Amino acid sequence: MLAANRPFSFVLFGASGHLAKIKIFPALYFLALKKRLPAHYSIVGYARTGMTDEQFRQHVADAVKEYVLEVNDKVLSSMLEHVFYQQGQYDAVADFTKLATKLEALEGATKDVVRLAYLSIPPSAFESTLRNICQGGVNEEHHDFRCIVEKPVGHDLSSFEEINTVLQSCFKPHEVYILDHYLGKEAVRNAYYLRHANPVIERLLKNTLISSVQITASESAGLEGRAGYFDAVGTLRDMFQSHLIQIAALLTMRLVSDTNDIKMTRLDAVKKFYLPPATDFSEIVMQGQYGEGLVGGKKVVAYKDEDGVAPGSRTPTFAAMHLMSRSSRWEGVPFFLHSGKRLNVKETRIAIEFQESPTLVGKESNRNRLDIILQGEAGLKLYLQTKLGGSEPKFRPLVMEDPLVCMGDCLVEHSLLLLEAINGNQQWFLDAEEVRSCWRIIDPVQKYLDNKKTPLPIYLSGSKGPTEADAFIAKFGHAWL
Ligand code: BG6
Repeated sequence: MLAANRPFSFVLFGASGHLAKIKIFPALYFLALKKRLPAHYSIVGYARTGMTDEQFRQHVADAVKEYVLEVNDKVLSSMLEHVFYQQGQYDAVADFTKLATKLEALEGATKDVVRLAYLSIPPSAFESTLRNICQGGVNEEHHDFRCIVEKPVGHDLSSFEEINTVLQSCFKPHEVYILDHYLGKEAVRNAYYLRHANPVIERLLKNTLISSVQITASESAGLEGRAGYFDAVGTLRDMFQSHLIQIAALLTMRLVSDTNDIKMTRLDAVKKFYLPPATDFSEIVMQGQYGEGLVGGKKVVAYKDEDGVAPGSRTPTFAAMHLMSRSSRWEGVPFFLHSGKRLNVKETRIAIEFQESPTLVGKESNRNRLDIILQGEAGLKLYLQTKLGGSEPKFRPLVMEDPLVCMGDCLVEHSLLLLEAINGNQQWFLDAEEVRSCWRIIDPVQKYLDNKKTPLPIYLSGSKGPTEADAFIAKFGHAWL
């Protein structure tokens, strides 16, 4: 059973923000509930808002009660005894020195404490925070240190390089943990491990048999109070730049027997993705923005009318994109990625469509297909065909399916990744070169989307997305599955 293997101090920069509330505090609570935390640990919130330790504890307790279904009050209050707060600006080194002093005091004589800094802050505060962590002595030499930053790092390749230069000047490579929470999802990791455990599946995954791969991340949720972040970022950077490309990499990467090789082998697979040759970017990508509509029976407003969205915003909330892989096994197979907010369903899915059966089976028949459903009603579905009665060789669909439910030592993604970071396991965190490779794919496409002349169709909230997405994929002789 995975548990923190040493005492730690966890500093959460951006402690009064949204991510902290919905993901980080609940993740820490789960670790406390499941008894994965050591005897000595401190959680220190850092933000600009003025708060006492007591007020911050109340803030953490409220978040846990709001975002966790059933809360064990005893576990929560004993976790809160480890929670502290330090008010500070992100650009004032003196505030970071105070933070370092506070950490020293909390750690006291405890030996072998690992310090973790988790940056849950707006991209504009990244650089100064990183510099001040170093200059203020938060990562003092006698401590092991981890700096955790969430994707997307930067808003394009050059801003990533700027942040990465600061990261490299402050920290050693083994101290940097770039987090994509999809890589902490058991179901997403399973996209790789299913291949490992089932040679039958693995043998099917090659270009001589496959007609296309579709990776879909459909969300019914809208902005969830994050307009300030999302309006400046858009769907391509938010979902494709890391989550969807990572899923594609887990499907195509070489299988390795040593779990210490996962990160570098995944990086190889990421580097092999490229934008297919095209005469125009409209053959590679299309976008959309949600209008008003009904989601789960409730009326919802159009993106442009959401609180915090800039007037006349052209930020896409939907995109579809075509990618290819240079891996010899996957050469020639189109990868169609698509994702959007305010769609009809919450589902993340890999759909692998096989080539047509060349013989007996008539034109009206369906192709074989394998769906690996990672979120939503998670499951594995194999679409086959079986003969209908009669003297003619006619067929009907046969679907073999089983739910994919995590059993055993299941932790939610941020809990799992936090434990791995404490224990010094970087395999499911991103390598800088991986992030760089993703930006190289996304940058030219984003530039095309940013052009005011690029169409931005409006789709009905609660629908499957813009009808233009159907026309986009139809040009390649495919349809969304
Ligand atoms: C985040 C994005 O990385 O992933 C959000 O910033 C998106 O916009 C979220 O909603 C989806 O994550 P999950 O875990 O709900 O599939």
